[in-house]
Order: sequence, then structure tokens, then C-alpha cells
Amino acid sequence: MSSSIAFFRGEFMAVEQANISIATHALNYGTGCFEGIRAYYNATRRQQYIFRMAEHYERLLRSCRILRIEIPYSVAELCQITVELMKRNAFQQDAYIRPLAFKADLVIKVTLEGIEDAFGVFVVPFGEYLPLDGIRAMTSAWQRIDDNAVPARAKVTGSYINTALAVSDAHAAGFDDCIFLNSDGHVSEGSAANLFMVRQGVLVTPPITDNLLEGITRQSVMQLAKEAGVEVAERHIDRSELYVADEVLLAGTGVQVVPVVEIDGRRVGRGGQGEITRRLQQAYLACARGEDVRHQDWLIAVE
Ligand SMILES: Cc1ncc(COP(=O)(O)O)c(C=O)c1O
Repeated sequence: MSSSIAFFRGEFMAVEQANISIATHALNYGTGCFEGIRAYYNATRRQQYIFRMAEHYERLLRSCRILRIEIPYSVAELCQITVELMKRNAFQQDAYIRPLAFKADLVIKVTLEGIEDAFGVFVVPFGEYLPLDGIRAMTSAWQRIDDNAVPARAKVTGSYINTALAVSDAHAAGFDDCIFLNSDGHVSEGSAANLFMVRQGVLVTPPITDNLLEGITRQSVMQLAKEAGVEVAERHIDRSELYVADEVLLAGTGVQVVPVVEIDGRRVGRGGQGEITRRLQQAYLACARGEDVRHQDWLIAVE
């Protein structure tokens, strides 16, 4: 990251210059909203594609509404800034784009009102977040944050304490990732990805009211599944259903589409990558790299 260019408080600058004070509200109280966007490098075409950027910025603006953060840019302007940033960085590899809108005043006051906001974006070269051939997961003893406490629908910096606690325990117990249950005891999502399972040929995912982030990869996977003739259902998922499911997968910008091959010491399905997961992973990556002409509208090329 040391030599990259960031966009911060209205200007492009070296990332080392894009700093904040120790007294910043967001650093003290977790009052920031962020996004994670992937840019895929297609080496054959020597072309970088940003995946579903407008949808990510639309979600950022929704998160900001919940947190009463004002960004002085429209979705179109945020996309323009990001394309310019990617041009200036000129990575010839996959990258991760991190926009961040936050409460920027240097003030000791726990509130959302009357505090100045700031916005920035930085980018890093980025490979796989989790192995694409399968991961081992445990259900977490930490409960997913509830909508009436810290809404999971908003991608808020402070709420990732919930994630960090759960992921750290999963790692300490020897697992790759965790699966959150919500306050009703239903399956909510992975640590930083939405969850799907396959039962009797149907791709099932929890509804957006089960305390999860309204994932953009989740939407993409549901669309790709329907196009492939796979029935999709949104309904509550019991924890024990994961133990008898034919396939379980996680879907998110970071993880992409990853099979879960073991949960709580129980093999999922036959233990390897299931057929529907394999097809969805292939379809997703083909779209993201610009190899599938049907979903060019999901990509913005960095010319
Ligand atoms: C908690 C959580 N759930 C789900 C997702 C997946 O969302 P998306 O597919 O929009 O990246 C993420 C990743 O951003 C996340 O952090």
C-alpha cells in the first residue's frame, strides 16, 4: 500500500498523506460507513474491470443515511472518482477498493448529529481472501448484531467488532471462518459474506431481515442461479439444516464464491465442492473478469 494513491477530503494524494487525528470521532466511536469493491484484472485484454461499483456506492449512501453521514457526491460522481483513482494507481492485478465515509470532527461527544463528515477511498492489490476450493467453518458463540442494536444492513466500521470477535475465535479453534446465528437462533451469514445452502436442488438463503448485510454478491449469485435454472428461496435457515445440507457456500466481495466443506466438525454433503456451488463460482468469476458477455452491465472498465 505504501506507494499507492488515495482520494481524501476532495483530493488525490499519496496514501501516507491521507491521515486523521487521534481525536477523530469515527476512530473513537466507530462512526464510519465503508464499502469493499473488487477490481478484476483481465490479463488477456490488459483491462481492469470494477465489479458492480454503482451498487456498492448506492449501498454506501444507504449506510450513510442510517448513520446520518452526508457525502457531497452522487453515485455517478463517486464512480468517476474511483475510476480516476484506479487510473492513477494503474495496478496490473486484482485490487480491492475501500471507500470510507466517517464522522470526522475532533470532539468528545457520542452522537450522530452536528458532527462534520469526511470521505476517502484507498485501494490495495488483492488476491484471494479465502481458498476458493473450500473452507472449514464453525457456528459462532457470538450472536449476530441485532437490527435494534447495531443494524447489520448498514456497513458500519464499529459493527465489525462483532465480526472480529467471531473470526478470531474461529481461527483460534482451527477453522477458516465462522457462521453467525441471529438472536432468533437462525443462521444469519458468514463473517464477511452471505450464506447459501442447497437442499433438494433448491438454493436457499436467509431473508434480508435476518440481521445480515444486503450483499451485492448475494444478489449476483441469486441471479446467476436463476439463469442456470436453479430454484432460489429466501427463508429462515436452522443451524441443524447446515449439517444435513447437500452444499453450503459463502458469497461476498472478498471471499467471492467459496464452498464450505465442513461445519462444526461435520462434513457438508460429500465433503468437496458441490455441483451447484462449482457452477455458481465459475459463472461468478467469468462475469467478474469480463468473460461472460451476458453481464457486461455489472462491470465498469478502467480505460
Ligand atoms: C458482514 C458482511 N456480510 C456480507 C458481505 C457480502 O457483501 P457484498 O457481496 O456486497 O460484498 C460482506 C462483505 O462486504 C460483509 O462484510
